[in-house]
Amino acid sequence: MAGVTFVPTYQGLSAADLLRPWAPLQPADFPMSVPHRLAFYRARNAIYHLFRALAARTPDLTVLAPDYNSGNEILAMRAAGARICYYPVDRRMQCDPEVVERLCERYNPDLLYVIHHVGWPQPIRALSDLCLRRGLPLVEDCALALLSTCDGQPLGSVGDWSVFCLYKTLPLPNGALLIQNGIRLESLEHLALRGAGAASVLGRTAELAIQRLRGRASGLGAALHSLKRTMGRVAGALDVRRANVGDIGFNIDEVDLAMSTVSARLLDRLDTGEIRRRRVENYRLLDGLLDERVPRVFRTLPDGVCPLFFPVLADDKHDAARRLQRRGVDALEFWNDSVESGEEMSPDARYLRAHVLELPIHQDLTRRHIEHVARQTSDVWRRKAA
Ligand SMILES: Cc1ncc(COP(=O)(O)O)c(C=O)c1O
Repeated sequence: MAGVTFVPTYQGLSAADLLRPWAPLQPADFPMSVPHRLAFYRARNAIYHLFRALAARTPDLTVLAPDYNSGNEILAMRAAGARICYYPVDRRMQCDPEVVERLCERYNPDLLYVIHHVGWPQPIRALSDLCLRRGLPLVEDCALALLSTCDGQPLGSVGDWSVFCLYKTLPLPNGALLIQNGIRLESLEHLALRGAGAASVLGRTAELAIQRLRGRASGLGAALHSLKRTMGRVAGALDVRRANVGDIGFNIDEVDLAMSTVSARLLDRLDTGEIRRRRVENYRLLDGLLDERVPRVFRTLPDGVCPLFFPVLADDKHDAARRLQRRGVDALEFWNDSVESGEEMSPDARYLRAHVLELPIHQDLTRRHIEHVARQTSDVWRRKAA
Protein backbone atom coordinates (compact mmCIF):
# COMPACT_ATOMS: atom_id res chain seq x y z
CA MET A 1 0.00 0.00 0.00
CA ALA A 2 1.26 3.50 -0.85
CA GLY A 3 1.16 6.29 1.77
CA VAL A 4 -2.09 6.41 3.71
CA THR A 5 -4.35 9.29 2.69
CA PHE A 6 -7.66 8.31 4.27
CA VAL A 7 -8.49 6.51 7.51
CA PRO A 8 -12.23 5.72 7.67
CA THR A 9 -14.24 5.90 10.91
CA TYR A 10 -15.97 2.57 10.42
CA GLN A 11 -14.89 -0.88 9.34
CA GLY A 12 -15.80 -1.69 5.75
CA LEU A 13 -16.88 -4.75 3.88
CA SER A 14 -14.59 -6.78 1.65
CA ALA A 15 -15.42 -9.40 -0.99
CA ALA A 16 -13.78 -11.94 1.33
CA ASP A 17 -16.37 -11.15 4.04
CA LEU A 18 -19.18 -11.98 1.62
CA LEU A 19 -17.58 -15.13 0.25
CA ARG A 20 -16.16 -16.63 3.47
CA PRO A 21 -17.72 -20.07 4.12
CA TRP A 22 -20.32 -20.44 6.83
CA ALA A 23 -18.80 -21.36 10.18
CA PRO A 24 -20.89 -22.65 13.09
CA LEU A 25 -21.12 -20.17 15.95
CA GLN A 26 -19.29 -21.18 19.13
CA PRO A 27 -20.64 -20.65 22.68
CA ALA A 28 -17.89 -18.00 23.01
CA ASP A 29 -19.63 -15.97 20.28
CA PHE A 30 -21.90 -14.25 22.79
CA PRO A 31 -24.47 -12.83 22.11
CA MET A 32 -24.76 -14.24 18.56
CA SER A 33 -24.87 -17.80 19.89
CA VAL A 34 -27.59 -17.27 22.55
CA PRO A 35 -30.62 -19.43 21.60
CA HIS A 36 -33.32 -16.91 22.55
CA ARG A 37 -31.87 -13.85 20.88
CA LEU A 38 -34.19 -11.50 19.03
CA ALA A 39 -32.85 -9.62 16.02
CA PHE A 40 -33.84 -6.08 14.99
CA TYR A 41 -32.75 -3.57 12.38
CA ARG A 42 -31.12 -1.39 15.01
CA ALA A 43 -30.73 -1.19 18.76
CA ARG A 44 -33.27 1.59 19.41
CA ASN A 45 -35.99 -0.69 17.94
CA ALA A 46 -34.98 -3.47 20.35
CA ILE A 47 -35.04 -1.00 23.28
CA TYR A 48 -38.46 0.32 22.26
CA HIS A 49 -40.01 -3.16 22.07
CA LEU A 50 -38.41 -4.27 25.34
CA PHE A 51 -39.71 -1.22 27.20
CA ARG A 52 -43.16 -1.49 25.63
CA ALA A 53 -43.36 -5.02 27.03
CA LEU A 54 -42.07 -3.83 30.43
CA ALA A 55 -44.38 -0.80 30.54
CA ALA A 56 -47.34 -3.10 29.86
CA ARG A 57 -46.47 -4.99 33.08
CA THR A 58 -45.57 -1.95 35.22
CA PRO A 59 -47.74 1.16 34.99
CA ASP A 60 -45.75 4.46 35.20
CA LEU A 61 -42.50 2.56 34.61
CA THR A 62 -39.64 4.66 35.99
CA VAL A 63 -36.13 4.01 34.69
CA LEU A 64 -32.87 5.19 36.30
CA ALA A 65 -30.43 5.79 33.41
CA PRO A 66 -26.99 7.42 32.92
CA ASP A 67 -26.79 11.15 32.18
CA TYR A 68 -24.17 10.46 29.49
CA ASN A 69 -26.07 8.68 26.71
CA SER A 70 -26.52 8.73 22.95
CA GLY A 71 -30.11 10.01 23.21
CA ASN A 72 -31.47 7.22 21.00
CA GLU A 73 -31.97 4.85 23.92
CA ILE A 74 -33.68 7.61 25.94
CA LEU A 75 -36.02 8.50 23.07
CA ALA A 76 -36.86 4.83 22.53
CA MET A 77 -37.64 4.21 26.22
CA ARG A 78 -39.72 7.34 26.42
CA ALA A 79 -41.66 6.48 23.23
CA ALA A 80 -42.46 3.13 24.89
CA GLY A 81 -44.02 4.97 27.83
CA ALA A 82 -41.17 5.02 30.39
CA ARG A 83 -40.32 7.96 32.65
CA ILE A 84 -36.56 8.57 32.89
CA CYS A 85 -34.51 9.87 35.82
CA TYR A 86 -30.74 10.11 35.77
CA TYR A 87 -27.56 9.11 37.62
CA PRO A 88 -24.19 10.73 36.88
CA VAL A 89 -21.28 9.31 34.90
CA ASP A 90 -17.77 10.64 35.64
CA ARG A 91 -15.04 11.84 33.25
CA ARG A 92 -13.83 8.25 32.77
CA MET A 93 -17.37 7.33 31.62
CA GLN A 94 -17.92 5.34 34.84
CA CYS A 95 -20.77 5.39 37.32
CA ASP A 96 -20.41 5.02 41.09
CA PRO A 97 -22.67 2.25 42.49
CA GLU A 98 -22.98 4.10 45.82
CA VAL A 99 -24.30 7.19 44.07
CA VAL A 100 -26.65 5.00 42.01
CA GLU A 101 -27.94 3.44 45.23
CA ARG A 102 -28.59 6.85 46.80
CA LEU A 103 -30.53 7.88 43.70
CA CYS A 104 -32.55 4.66 43.93
CA GLU A 105 -33.60 5.85 47.42
CA ARG A 106 -34.60 9.20 45.99
CA TYR A 107 -36.43 8.16 42.81
CA ASN A 108 -37.58 4.65 43.67
CA PRO A 109 -37.14 3.44 40.05
CA ASP A 110 -38.63 0.24 38.63
CA LEU A 111 -35.52 -0.59 36.62
CA LEU A 112 -31.80 0.24 36.34
CA TYR A 113 -30.39 0.98 32.86
CA VAL A 114 -26.61 0.67 32.44
CA ILE A 115 -24.53 1.69 29.41
CA HIS A 116 -21.10 0.13 28.88
CA HIS A 117 -19.41 3.04 27.14
CA VAL A 118 -17.10 2.38 24.14
CA GLY A 119 -16.52 -1.23 25.30
CA TRP A 120 -15.34 -0.39 28.85
CA PRO A 121 -17.41 -2.17 31.51
CA GLN A 122 -19.35 -0.41 34.24
CA PRO A 123 -18.89 -1.92 37.74
CA ILE A 124 -21.43 -4.53 36.73
CA ARG A 125 -21.01 -6.89 39.72
CA ALA A 126 -21.69 -4.11 42.25
CA LEU A 127 -24.61 -2.83 40.15
CA SER A 128 -26.05 -6.31 39.80
CA ASP A 129 -25.76 -6.86 43.61
CA LEU A 130 -27.53 -3.56 44.16
CA CYS A 131 -30.34 -4.65 41.83
CA LEU A 132 -30.67 -8.03 43.54
CA ARG A 133 -30.85 -6.41 46.97
CA ARG A 134 -33.52 -3.97 45.85
CA GLY A 135 -35.44 -6.34 43.59
CA LEU A 136 -34.73 -4.10 40.60
CA PRO A 137 -34.50 -5.52 37.07
CA LEU A 138 -31.28 -4.59 35.26
CA VAL A 139 -30.88 -3.76 31.55
CA GLU A 140 -27.37 -3.68 30.07
CA ASP A 141 -26.98 -1.47 27.01
CA CYS A 142 -24.07 -2.98 25.06
CA ALA A 143 -24.71 -1.00 21.86
CA LEU A 144 -21.08 0.17 22.04
CA ALA A 145 -19.66 -2.91 23.77
CA LEU A 146 -20.08 -5.93 21.50
CA LEU A 147 -17.37 -8.61 22.11
CA SER A 148 -16.23 -7.08 25.43
CA THR A 149 -15.88 -9.16 28.58
CA CYS A 150 -15.36 -8.36 32.27
CA ASP A 151 -13.69 -10.94 34.56
CA GLY A 152 -14.09 -13.48 31.78
CA GLN A 153 -17.87 -12.93 31.45
CA PRO A 154 -19.30 -11.30 28.32
CA LEU A 155 -20.82 -7.87 28.87
CA GLY A 156 -24.55 -8.24 28.54
CA SER A 157 -24.67 -11.64 30.26
CA VAL A 158 -25.47 -10.36 33.78
CA GLY A 159 -28.50 -8.10 33.32
CA ASP A 160 -32.03 -9.44 32.99
CA TRP A 161 -32.04 -8.08 29.44
CA SER A 162 -29.26 -6.75 27.26
CA VAL A 163 -29.16 -4.94 23.93
CA PHE A 164 -26.39 -5.04 21.32
CA CYS A 165 -25.78 -3.06 18.19
CA LEU A 166 -24.01 -5.32 15.69
CA TYR A 167 -23.24 -2.93 12.86
CA LYS A 168 -21.18 -0.55 15.01
CA THR A 169 -18.43 -3.16 15.54
CA LEU A 170 -18.98 -5.54 12.62
CA PRO A 171 -19.12 -4.83 8.87
CA LEU A 172 -22.90 -5.28 8.56
CA PRO A 173 -25.39 -2.91 6.93
CA ASN A 174 -27.68 -3.10 10.00
CA GLY A 175 -28.55 -5.38 12.90
CA ALA A 176 -29.10 -5.42 16.65
CA LEU A 177 -29.84 -8.13 19.21
CA LEU A 178 -32.00 -8.23 22.31
CA ILE A 179 -31.05 -10.95 24.80
CA GLN A 180 -33.36 -12.17 27.54
CA ASN A 181 -31.05 -13.57 30.22
CA GLY A 182 -33.67 -13.86 32.94
CA ILE A 183 -37.41 -13.58 32.66
CA ARG A 184 -38.56 -14.12 29.08
CA LEU A 185 -41.24 -11.69 27.98
CA GLU A 186 -43.61 -13.72 25.83
CA SER A 187 -44.91 -10.76 23.81
CA LEU A 188 -41.40 -10.11 22.46
CA GLU A 189 -41.24 -13.56 20.94
CA HIS A 190 -44.27 -12.83 18.76
CA LEU A 191 -43.41 -9.47 17.22
CA ALA A 192 -44.18 -9.19 13.52
CA LEU A 193 -41.17 -7.39 12.03
CA ARG A 194 -40.89 -6.35 8.38
CA GLY A 195 -37.97 -5.94 5.96
CA ALA A 196 -36.30 -2.53 5.66
CA GLY A 197 -36.39 -2.55 1.86
CA ALA A 198 -33.67 -3.04 -0.70
CA ALA A 199 -32.75 0.68 -1.00
CA SER A 200 -31.69 0.94 2.61
CA VAL A 201 -29.88 -2.41 2.82
CA LEU A 202 -28.10 -2.22 -0.54
CA GLY A 203 -27.27 1.46 -0.04
CA ARG A 204 -25.57 0.80 3.28
CA THR A 205 -23.87 -2.38 1.99
CA ALA A 206 -22.42 -0.39 -0.92
CA GLU A 207 -21.27 2.29 1.52
CA LEU A 208 -19.44 -0.34 3.58
CA ALA A 209 -17.70 -1.74 0.51
CA ILE A 210 -16.69 1.75 -0.62
CA GLN A 211 -15.52 2.64 2.86
CA ARG A 212 -13.06 -0.21 2.73
CA LEU A 213 -11.85 0.74 -0.74
CA ARG A 214 -11.38 4.35 0.35
CA GLY A 215 -9.10 3.21 3.15
CA ARG A 216 -7.05 1.13 0.72
CA ALA A 217 -6.86 3.10 -2.58
CA SER A 218 -8.12 6.58 -2.01
CA GLY A 219 -8.48 7.76 -5.66
CA LEU A 220 -10.80 4.94 -6.68
CA GLY A 221 -12.57 4.92 -3.36
CA ALA A 222 -13.25 8.67 -3.47
CA ALA A 223 -14.72 8.36 -6.99
CA LEU A 224 -16.97 5.52 -5.85
CA HIS A 225 -17.93 7.48 -2.74
CA SER A 226 -19.17 10.36 -4.88
CA LEU A 227 -21.04 7.90 -7.17
CA LYS A 228 -22.73 6.43 -4.09
CA ARG A 229 -23.74 9.94 -2.94
CA THR A 230 -25.27 10.62 -6.37
CA MET A 231 -27.16 7.30 -6.19
CA GLY A 232 -28.41 8.32 -2.74
CA ARG A 233 -29.67 11.66 -4.09
CA VAL A 234 -31.46 9.91 -6.98
CA ALA A 235 -33.10 7.51 -4.50
CA GLY A 236 -34.11 10.52 -2.38
CA ALA A 237 -35.59 12.29 -5.40
CA LEU A 238 -37.64 9.18 -6.21
CA ASP A 239 -38.81 9.21 -2.60
CA VAL A 240 -37.40 5.78 -1.82
CA ARG A 241 -37.65 5.50 1.95
CA ARG A 242 -34.34 4.64 3.54
CA ALA A 243 -33.70 3.82 7.15
CA ASN A 244 -30.36 5.37 7.94
CA VAL A 245 -28.07 3.96 10.56
CA GLY A 246 -25.97 5.93 13.00
CA ASP A 247 -28.26 8.95 13.30
CA ILE A 248 -29.83 10.45 16.44
CA GLY A 249 -33.61 10.39 16.66
CA PHE A 250 -36.52 8.06 16.99
CA ASN A 251 -39.06 7.32 14.28
CA ILE A 252 -42.01 5.23 15.38
CA ASP A 253 -42.74 4.32 11.73
CA GLU A 254 -39.44 2.41 11.54
CA VAL A 255 -39.68 0.58 14.83
CA ASP A 256 -40.81 -2.74 13.34
CA LEU A 257 -37.90 -3.13 10.92
CA ALA A 258 -36.10 -6.46 10.98
CA MET A 259 -32.41 -7.19 10.61
CA SER A 260 -31.71 -7.84 6.91
CA THR A 261 -30.86 -11.25 5.50
CA VAL A 262 -27.59 -9.77 4.20
CA SER A 263 -26.60 -9.02 7.80
CA ALA A 264 -27.69 -12.45 9.02
CA ARG A 265 -25.66 -14.10 6.27
CA LEU A 266 -22.57 -12.04 7.04
CA LEU A 267 -22.88 -12.61 10.77
CA ASP A 268 -22.41 -16.35 10.31
CA ARG A 269 -19.21 -15.77 8.41
CA LEU A 270 -17.28 -13.30 10.52
CA ASP A 271 -14.28 -14.21 12.64
CA THR A 272 -15.21 -12.30 15.81
CA GLY A 273 -12.11 -13.48 17.70
CA GLU A 274 -9.89 -11.95 15.03
CA ILE A 275 -11.97 -8.74 14.99
CA ARG A 276 -11.54 -8.34 18.75
CA ARG A 277 -7.80 -9.09 18.53
CA ARG A 278 -7.23 -6.49 15.81
CA ARG A 279 -9.16 -3.77 17.63
CA VAL A 280 -7.16 -4.36 20.82
CA GLU A 281 -3.88 -4.41 18.87
CA ASN A 282 -4.72 -1.17 17.05
CA TYR A 283 -5.81 0.56 20.26
CA ARG A 284 -2.56 -0.39 22.02
CA LEU A 285 -0.45 0.64 19.02
CA LEU A 286 -2.14 4.05 18.84
CA ASP A 287 -1.80 4.53 22.60
CA GLY A 288 1.93 3.87 22.29
CA LEU A 289 2.49 6.15 19.29
CA LEU A 290 0.29 9.11 20.22
CA ASP A 291 2.00 12.14 21.77
CA GLU A 292 1.65 12.07 25.56
CA ARG A 293 0.09 15.52 25.47
CA VAL A 294 -3.03 14.20 23.71
CA PRO A 295 -5.40 13.56 26.65
CA ARG A 296 -6.98 10.10 26.74
CA VAL A 297 -10.37 9.33 28.32
CA PHE A 298 -9.19 5.93 29.61
CA ARG A 299 -5.89 5.38 31.43
CA THR A 300 -5.68 1.70 30.53
CA LEU A 301 -7.21 -0.92 28.27
CA PRO A 302 -8.19 -3.71 30.70
CA ASP A 303 -8.10 -7.34 29.55
CA GLY A 304 -11.34 -8.33 27.86
CA VAL A 305 -12.30 -4.86 26.59
CA CYS A 306 -13.01 -4.72 22.85
CA PRO A 307 -12.65 -0.98 22.15
CA LEU A 308 -15.12 0.60 19.74
CA PHE A 309 -12.81 3.54 19.11
CA PHE A 310 -10.01 5.54 20.78
CA PRO A 311 -11.57 8.46 22.68
CA VAL A 312 -9.47 11.59 23.23
CA LEU A 313 -10.34 14.94 24.81
CA ALA A 314 -10.03 18.06 22.64
CA ASP A 315 -10.41 21.63 23.96
CA ASP A 316 -12.32 22.51 20.82
CA LYS A 317 -13.53 19.16 19.43
CA HIS A 318 -15.22 20.69 16.41
CA ASP A 319 -12.02 22.41 15.32
CA ALA A 320 -9.87 19.33 16.05
CA ALA A 321 -12.25 17.07 14.05
CA ARG A 322 -12.14 19.45 11.07
CA ARG A 323 -8.34 19.61 11.13
CA LEU A 324 -8.01 15.84 11.35
CA GLN A 325 -10.52 15.26 8.57
CA ARG A 326 -8.51 17.59 6.33
CA ARG A 327 -5.49 15.36 7.07
CA GLY A 328 -7.38 12.19 6.09
CA VAL A 329 -8.32 11.03 9.59
CA ASP A 330 -12.07 10.56 9.80
CA ALA A 331 -12.33 11.67 13.45
CA LEU A 332 -15.87 12.08 14.79
CA GLU A 333 -17.37 14.33 17.43
CA PHE A 334 -18.95 11.97 19.93
CA TRP A 335 -22.37 12.59 21.59
CA ASN A 336 -22.29 16.41 21.53
CA ASP A 337 -25.89 17.01 22.52
CA SER A 338 -28.30 15.78 25.12
CA VAL A 339 -31.86 15.00 24.03
CA GLU A 340 -33.04 16.49 27.35
CA SER A 341 -32.91 20.15 28.37
CA GLY A 342 -29.36 19.64 29.66
CA GLU A 343 -30.47 20.23 33.27
CA GLU A 344 -30.22 16.49 33.93
CA MET A 345 -26.45 16.45 33.27
CA SER A 346 -23.73 16.43 35.90
CA PRO A 347 -20.70 18.67 35.18
CA ASP A 348 -18.76 15.54 34.09
CA ALA A 349 -21.35 14.49 31.49
CA ARG A 350 -21.37 18.06 30.23
CA TYR A 351 -17.56 17.96 30.03
CA LEU A 352 -17.57 14.70 28.05
CA ARG A 353 -20.13 16.05 25.58
CA ALA A 354 -18.03 19.15 25.05
CA HIS A 355 -14.69 17.38 24.55
CA VAL A 356 -14.81 13.71 23.44
CA LEU A 357 -13.53 13.02 19.96
CA GLU A 358 -13.32 9.52 18.52
CA LEU A 359 -10.29 8.27 16.63
CA PRO A 360 -10.62 5.10 14.49
CA ILE A 361 -8.88 1.86 15.55
CA HIS A 362 -11.20 -0.71 13.92
CA GLN A 363 -10.23 -4.09 12.51
CA ASP A 364 -9.63 -2.94 8.92
CA LEU A 365 -6.83 -0.59 9.87
CA THR A 366 -3.24 -1.63 9.35
CA ARG A 367 -0.13 -0.46 11.14
CA ARG A 368 0.29 2.25 8.49
CA HIS A 369 -3.21 3.60 9.12
CA ILE A 370 -2.59 3.76 12.85
CA GLU A 371 0.79 5.45 12.34
CA HIS A 372 -0.99 8.03 10.17
CA VAL A 373 -3.64 8.65 12.85
CA ALA A 374 -0.95 8.99 15.53
CA ARG A 375 1.24 11.32 13.46
CA GLN A 376 -1.60 13.61 12.36
CA THR A 377 -3.28 13.75 15.76
CA SER A 378 -0.03 14.43 17.61
CA ASP A 379 0.78 17.16 15.09
CA VAL A 380 -2.61 18.85 15.44
CA TRP A 381 -2.16 18.93 19.23
CA ARG A 382 1.48 20.14 19.00
CA ARG A 383 0.52 23.02 16.69
CA LYS A 384 -2.33 23.96 18.99
CA ALA A 385 0.06 24.05 21.96
CA ALA A 386 2.71 26.07 20.08
C1 LIG B 1 -25.55 3.56 24.10
C2 LIG B 1 -26.45 3.41 22.91
N1 LIG B 1 -27.61 2.75 23.03
C3 LIG B 1 -28.44 2.58 21.99
C4 LIG B 1 -28.16 3.12 20.75
C5 LIG B 1 -29.10 2.91 19.61
O1 LIG B 1 -28.47 2.20 18.61
P1 LIG B 1 -29.01 2.22 17.11
O2 LIG B 1 -28.36 3.39 16.44
O3 LIG B 1 -28.61 0.90 16.54
O4 LIG B 1 -30.48 2.37 17.18
C6 LIG B 1 -26.94 3.81 20.57
C7 LIG B 1 -26.59 4.41 19.29
O5 LIG B 1 -27.10 5.34 18.86
C8 LIG B 1 -26.08 3.96 21.67
O6 LIG B 1 -24.92 4.63 21.53
